[in-house]
Amino acid sequence: MQSLLIQGGVPLRGEVVISGSKNATLPILAAALLTAEPCVIRRVPDLSDVKFMGRILQSLGAEVSITGDTVQVQARKVKAFGDYDLIRQMRGSVCIMGPLLGRLREARVSYPGGCVIGARPINLHLKGFAALGAKVAIDEGYVHAQARRLQGAEMFLGGRSGPTVLGTANVMMAATLAEGVTIIESAACEPEVVDLAKFLIAMGAKITGAGSPIITVTGVKELHGAEHEVIPDRIETATYAIAAAATGGEVTIRGARPDHLNAVLDKLREAGVRVARAGTTLTVRHASRLKPVDLTTLPFAGFPTDVQAQMMALMTLAKGTSIITERVFESRFMHVSELSRMGADIEIEGPSAIVKGGRPLSGAPVMASDLRASAALVIAGLAARGETQVNRIYHLDRGYENIDGKLRQLGARIRRVNES
Ligand code: EPZ
Repeated sequence: MQSLLIQGGVPLRGEVVISGSKNATLPILAAALLTAEPCVIRRVPDLSDVKFMGRILQSLGAEVSITGDTVQVQARKVKAFGDYDLIRQMRGSVCIMGPLLGRLREARVSYPGGCVIGARPINLHLKGFAALGAKVAIDEGYVHAQARRLQGAEMFLGGRSGPTVLGTANVMMAATLAEGVTIIESAACEPEVVDLAKFLIAMGAKITGAGSPIITVTGVKELHGAEHEVIPDRIETATYAIAAAATGGEVTIRGARPDHLNAVLDKLREAGVRVARAGTTLTVRHASRLKPVDLTTLPFAGFPTDVQAQMMALMTLAKGTSIITERVFESRFMHVSELSRMGADIEIEGPSAIVKGGRPLSGAPVMASDLRASAALVIAGLAARGETQVNRIYHLDRGYENIDGKLRQLGARIRRVNES
C-alpha cells in the first residue's frame, strides 16, 4: 500500500487543470450499455474507479478501450448477470442496473455493500424499477430485477435524506427504453445527473427536466451510439480551492464549472477567502484572516456532502467556532479523529461537528478512510507544521487524478511512498 508524505507550511501557488467528473463518468459509462452501437466518452479522469467500471462493462460483454482521457464502449451483446465479486467491490457499479433493465428487461448484480460513510441502501432504486413494472428480488447476495415489459410510470423517489443521485440516474436510464412516459418526482438535481441526461439525449432519448426535481422521460424503441465530453469534477475543484485557502496561497483553477459550485464559493467568501470567477477559471486567494462558518450539507444546490470533510479541515484553521452539520449521510465524520490527531479541536454532537479552530495543526501519521476524508487529511497536512504521512491512499486514487502531481505543480512538498 502507498502513502503520501507531506511537508506542510508551503502556500500553494500557480495553476491547476481540473479533470473530468468521476461521478458523471460512472453512470455515463454504464449508459453505453443501452445501445449496441459504439459510444465515445471524452475527458474521462484517469481513476481506479473508472478503470474498474470499464472492467465491469467488459465482464458484461461490452468492448471497452481507453486511449488517454477517451473511452470507447461498444456493447454489441450484453449479459444481464454481472460478475459477483467484481461488482461487489465498487458500490457505484449499482448504476449498471438501469441500463441492463432497459436493454434486456433483466439485471442481476451483487447487492452493493455499504461503506464507511453509511449503509448506502438502494431501496429507492428498486422502488423506481418496480414502478416501471419490474419484479425485484434480493437473494443469495444478488439483486435481481426482471420485467416482461417496462411501462412508463409516475413515481416519487425522495428518501429520508432527500433525493438519490444514482437512484435517479438508474431509473432515468431504464425509463429511456420503457413504453410510455415516466415522471420522476423528487429527482436529484446534481450536475452529474444533468450531464448523464445530456448524453442519453445525444443517444436519442427523450428527457426533459433534468436538473430540476421533476424529470420526464418518454420511452423510445432503441437508442444509438453517441459522443460526449464529461463535465469537470466540481468536487475536485472545491478540493483545490480549499487547499489554496488552507495554505495561505493563491491558485488559478482552469477548466472548471464555477456555476456548479455556488454553495461552496459562497461559504468560502463568508470565511473571508477571495474567490474570482471568469468563465471556466476560478482564482482563489487566501483570506487575510480566516473566519469560522457554519454549514449544513444538503442535496444540490445546497452545500455538497462531498466537500464537507475538506471544509472541516479548513475550519480547523479559522479562529472561532464553526458548526458543520452532515444531513446527507449518517456517518461521514471519519476524518474527525484523524484531524484531532493533528491537533484539531473538534467535538461531534449527533449530526454536527463543533470545530474550535485557530490553533495551528501539527503534522502526524494519519489514516485515510473514505475518498473525501482522505482529501481533508491531505489539506490538513499541507497546512500543518512538520510532516504528515497519509496512509492507505488507494482511497484517494479512486477519485482524484494524479493528486500528488497536481499539488507538486502548485509548489507543495508532497511525494508518494510505499508504506513502510
Ligand atoms: C452519489 O452517491 C455520489 N457517488 C456520492 O459521492 C455522493 O456523496 C452522493 O451521490 C450524494 O451526493 C456517485 O455519484 C458515484 P445518494 P449515491 O443515493 O447516489 C440515501 C464521492 O465521494 N439513499 O444520493 O449513492 C443514502 O443512504 C461519493 O464521490 C436511500 O435511503 O448517493 C444517502 O443518505 C461518496 N435509499 C442519501 O440517500 C436509496 O435507495 C443520498 O444518497 C438511495 C440512497
